[in-house]
Amino acid sequence: MGEFTSITTDDAGVATLRLDRAPMNALNSQVWTELGEAARTLTAADDVAAVVIWGGPKIFAAGADIKQMQGMDFQEFFSHGGGLQESFQALARLPKVTIAAINGYALGGGCELALTADFRFAADNAKLGQPEILLGVIPGAGGTQRLSRLVGVSKAKEMVYGGGTYDAQQCLDMGLVDQVHPADEVYDRAVEAARRYAGGPYALRMAKKAIDEGAEMDLDSALRLETTLFTACFATEDRRIGMDSFVQDGPGKAVFTRR
Ligand code: HXC
Repeated sequence: MGEFTSITTDDAGVATLRLDRAPMNALNSQVWTELGEAARTLTAADDVAAVVIWGGPKIFAAGADIKQMQGMDFQEFFSHGGGLQESFQALARLPKVTIAAINGYALGGGCELALTADFRFAADNAKLGQPEILLGVIPGAGGTQRLSRLVGVSKAKEMVYGGGTYDAQQCLDMGLVDQVHPADEVYDRAVEAARRYAGGPYALRMAKKAIDEGAEMDLDSALRLETTLFTACFATEDRRIGMDSFVQDGPGKAVFTRR
């Protein structure tokens, strides 16, 4: 798709968004732009129901390109630096199930990229962290916000203040990753899980929206959003298929159309 990113889609409706910028998948401004374009493409692609974000077998991503940032001044970053966060927000808002498959390091912006996904599957050799403080900056692509919402304020502060790296087991213990697999299996496990979600009903989109957008609201507003989205499910073919199937054949046998 772009110079450093590609999208491949299988028959089951699972797309892999692959990052490929040797040697460390450092996220320069070209990569940020491509990730934003990928988010728009994946959102619009009717044949895609779930997405695996993968940096390849060696490294997920070592963060923003420090060599590019080194020469930037305040004005430059103020004008252009928001691009990474915008691209990540577009990925986080993808109305499809997303799984980050993490081999090797996911640091700084790399960890923040993984945080845009619904789930993180880590290789047993994965190492995650927010080392920005060691460069004299703070996480700027969701690391102070998505991270603390996921693992809690204290753990996020420990990670962000200390700038340390955390192995797969530590990340599993704190809820930063959801599953740990052998390094040569993690991508396949993520695709397998994505395929199961891709066979799910259109209501998965409603569920993601209700949980993610509801988490940003007061309870009363969030419950109203839930009611609206629950009701919206009645406009889908899959709602009828799911209930007809239950009544005729019992639970869990529906074959959905994603419509
Ligand atoms: C630019 C990078 C880089 C990065 C590595 N390289 N990470 N270049 N940006 N983020 C380069 C190295 O300079 C080196 O280039 C080559 O890649 C290989 O890296 P090594 O350090 O030699 O490899 P290794 O010893 O295996 O260590 C891997 C590593 C380490 C643990 C990932 O490279 C590292 O700590 N990288 C920086 C991680 C980091 O601080 N990320 C946060 C960035 S700030 P040469 O030319 O010497 O071969 C950020 C902010 C996001 O992400 C928010 C912005 C809005």
